[in-house]
Order: sequence, then C-alpha cells, then structure tokens
Amino acid sequence: MGFLRRLLTTVLCLGFIASVFFSVYFGMKALQFGDTVMKTEAKAKRTYHFVLVPEEMDNDYWRLVEKGARAAEKDFGVTVEYTGPEKADTEQHIKTIDMAIASKADGIITQGLNEKAFDPIINKAMQKGIPVVTVDTDSPTSERIAYVGTDNYYAGVLAGKALIHDTKGKAIVGIITGRFDASHQRLRVQGFRDTVKNVPGIKIVAIEESKITRIGAAEKASKILDEHPDVTAFYGTSALDAIGISQVAEKRHLTSSLYIIGFDTLPETLNLIRTRKIDATVTQQPYEMGYKSVALMRDIVEKKKVPEITNTETRVIHLQDLLHKGDAPQP
Ligand code: BGC
Repeated sequence: MGFLRRLLTTVLCLGFIASVFFSVYFGMKALQFGDTVMKTEAKAKRTYHFVLVPEEMDNDYWRLVEKGARAAEKDFGVTVEYTGPEKADTEQHIKTIDMAIASKADGIITQGLNEKAFDPIINKAMQKGIPVVTVDTDSPTSERIAYVGTDNYYAGVLAGKALIHDTKGKAIVGIITGRFDASHQRLRVQGFRDTVKNVPGIKIVAIEESKITRIGAAEKASKILDEHPDVTAFYGTSALDAIGISQVAEKRHLTSSLYIIGFDTLPETLNLIRTRKIDATVTQQPYEMGYKSVALMRDIVEKKKVPEITNTETRVIHLQDLLHKGDAPQP
C-alpha cells in the first residue's frame, strides 16, 4: 500500500512538473509568435517618412508644390515633412537636407540648385541608403535617382519665342533672374539667349538677380531702367519677378509701353495678366511636381523601377488663354 501510494504520488508530481513545464514552454512560444505577428503587422503598417526640402518655405510657388505632395501623402499613405529655409539660403537648405539624413528619412525630395554645393549632400544621402529625387531643379551630375519638373532650358526657349513673336522681333531687353547661382535659372536664361540671339532687332542689355523676391525684382528692374532707359521689354525667370517688374512699370507709367514676360501662374500673376500689366507667362506645374515626386519616391522605396526624368508640362500663356477659360478681361 505504502509503495503504491508513493508511486502514485511520484507519478502525480511528475505529471504536475511536466504540465508546468509544457505550459511555460508553449506559453513562451505563443508569446514569441504573438510578438512576431505584431512586428509583421507593424512593419506592414509603417508609413514611409519622406522629407521635402524647398528652396524657400513660405514662397507661394513652393506652397503649391507642398499642396501636391500633401495630396500624394493621403493617396499613398506616406508621411511628408515639408521643411527648409524661411528665405532662400543655400547653407540653410543644405543643413536641412543633412538633418533629414541624420533623422534617417526614408527619402529626400529637394532641388539640385547647383552641382558644386548640392551634389555632395545629395550623394551623401544616397551613400547612406536614402534615395533622393530632385524636384523643380535637377542636378544630373549628382547620384540622385530621378528628377520631376520643368525642362528649364526648353522653358527659356519658349519665353524667347514668345518675346520674338509678341514684340515682332524688336526689343531692348532687361532680364531679372531669381538667382545667379541656381542652375534652373541659368538654363531659363540660356534657352532665352540662344533663341533670341539671331534676331537682329532684339538686344539683351542687362541681367540682374532678384534673390527670388518681388522686392528684389522691383529694385533691380528700377536699376535697369535707370541705367538703360531705352529698355522696352523685361523677362523675369522666377515666380515673383514679373510681379515686381510690373510694380515698377506701373509706378513709372510704363505699363502700356513695356513688354513683360514672366514665369509661373500664381493667382497674382494671372490677375496682372487680366489687368494687362503682365503680357505673358511661362507656365509650370508645381502641384503636379509635388504629387509626382512623392508618388515616385514611394515606388523607389518599394523597389519599383522609375523613369529618370519626368518633365512636367510647360507653355506660354497670354490674356487670350485666360479668356478661353471664361475669364473676363479687366480694364
Ligand atoms: C522656380 C522655383 C523658385 C520660384 C521662386 C519658380 O519659377 O521654379 O525654383 O523657387 O520660382 O519664386
């Protein structure tokens, strides 16, 4: 009896120990499995964090790029951080890209404003495994994966052709360009120069830099008019230049005699075309640039093949083009 009881007790004890062991073992396995499932789910749900660094944060043109990027953010379930210098400033711009690299962003969308200053920082991001897409301004000499934006040389050619046509091949031209050090601005000037150079009645007499501000454009337009009172036409190559030029023309009562062609279709520019204070403008698609660059970046991080160059549409519009859209001209 005593032996049987001991045997029974031993069996029960062993059974108990075994059940404790198995519960702990399988419990841990279950926890591990749960953890793996959670991690996989979190990975699937993790949104990509892209950083969009514009030349100037609070510039009306760049706000449109941001708007396009925000629409893509919703459509593709990614996060876009819009951050950069308050006012155009190469050092701050590069510092912001460097911070995006340090924060291990999943992708950086920015301009390649000039190869000397921007290629090293773009290449640094790429070498750290952070893909870079250039937007608005390309730097084809860098290691960036793709560019989304205007063909800036071609846009300059279009401006030149429009000026030749609208002035019947006779004009003394002053150019206001956004920044001398920015490659897209230089291309817009070069395309223009190459187009008008063989027209004997057209002469470019001055070129000044606005630092992409309307006040800068106004000051430089005044300077050109003081130094070259015979100027009959202006070409402004960044979004606020023609606006600044038109203010000066108005102040000097030259609105009807000066021909002004600018860039972009900001509401203010379109109003100045409607009121006949600006003659023509080269259109760009900043909203589309923002949207497409985010879409492209999403494809890049998901290892899909993307085109190296996506040129957005550019053309020249005049008052008539706005009238076609049902807009009435204003006095
Ligand atoms: C250019 C931008 C620039 C903006 C300045 C636009 O025409 O494409 O690069 O920052 O003008 O207002």
